[in-house]
Amino acid sequence: MKKIFSGVQPSGSFTIGNYIGAMKRFVDLQDEGDCLFCIVNLHSLTVPKDAELLRQYTMQLAAMYLSIGIDPNKSTIFIQSQVPEHAELGWLMQCTGYIGELERMTQYKDKSQGKEVVTVGLLTYPALMAADILLYNTTHVPVGEDQKQHLEFTRDMAQRFNKKYGETFIVPEPMIQQLGGRIMSLDDPSKKMSKSNPNSGSYIALLDEPKAIEKKIKRAVTDSEGVVRYDKENKPAVSNLLTIYAACTGDSIENIVKTYEGRGYGDFKKDLAEVVIETLVPIQENYKRWMDSPELHTILKNGAHKAHALASETMDKVKRNMGLVTL
Ligand code: AMP
Ligand code: TRP
Repeated sequence: MKKIFSGVQPSGSFTIGNYIGAMKRFVDLQDEGDCLFCIVNLHSLTVPKDAELLRQYTMQLAAMYLSIGIDPNKSTIFIQSQVPEHAELGWLMQCTGYIGELERMTQYKDKSQGKEVVTVGLLTYPALMAADILLYNTTHVPVGEDQKQHLEFTRDMAQRFNKKYGETFIVPEPMIQQLGGRIMSLDDPSKKMSKSNPNSGSYIALLDEPKAIEKKIKRAVTDSEGVVRYDKENKPAVSNLLTIYAACTGDSIENIVKTYEGRGYGDFKKDLAEVVIETLVPIQENYKRWMDSPELHTILKNGAHKAHALASETMDKVKRNMGLVTL
């Protein structure tokens, strides 16, 4: 039986890149193993946040998890800070990892570049992420491609720890999709689609209105060839749009390309907007319901309870193996 863990930061809105690269996958994996899906609010603190906003974003992400189809009867949904073992094992992971390893992380380099002040947490972020994963005997971690390096670090931590203190952790496998693991910006196909891009036309947010979706897709950059075909190297923009189309419909790229043979980008974009809208509208309707639902709190409380029971078992073992006295 697979043990699946993943986390998303509660940082406001989510893009169709988050959805295709990771979150959509969570829904399908529920029938393949035991799943835990975490709202990693401690990770959000690595870049200073307003307290009230963080509270709101946390509940919004919980509602979003449920709206895309994560079923609380099948999976455990919980808030990271409600299970203190994350911070506790996070410290032990900081004492297992090396500064050099953390300084090499591309996400750290990107996020710290040009900043006047950088928190210690931004550097040690992957140690906390390793703790998240290793606490639950996780075998598989579905993430987008940008998390690959962090997953490699997590595997190194597990192996290093096991070597020093005896078999303690399972070494987890990343699950990164070949198609859709990295959805690119609509205005620049050399950049990852990201909600932190100041140009909101560069991404489709999961809560974008249909009109906005149409407009953004219409304006998305393409190329001058005018032929709908997949060629990531030479036609990165059109290939990205094809990937979004395929992810929303479940159809193969090959079939989609055939459908648009002899037709221009105009038709293709019009249909793409339609399939994206068809994918997002039901999620948006669910989201409104979940945001008003008193059940949200109960689901998160139950989730934290279940996660805590699992995490504390691992922590007992870790402490015993490390020589941290438990009386
Ligand atoms: P974050 O919002 O950074 O917490 O990311 C949540 C998940 O979405 C992670 O697994 C990321 O790897 C994934 N993700 C974020 N942006 C993209 C993107 N543009 N394409 C594919 N996956 C993404
Ligand atoms: N670092 C991930 C991101 O920014 C979020 C994350 C934190 C995560 N802990 C995790 C993802 C554990 C998978 C497993 O997207």
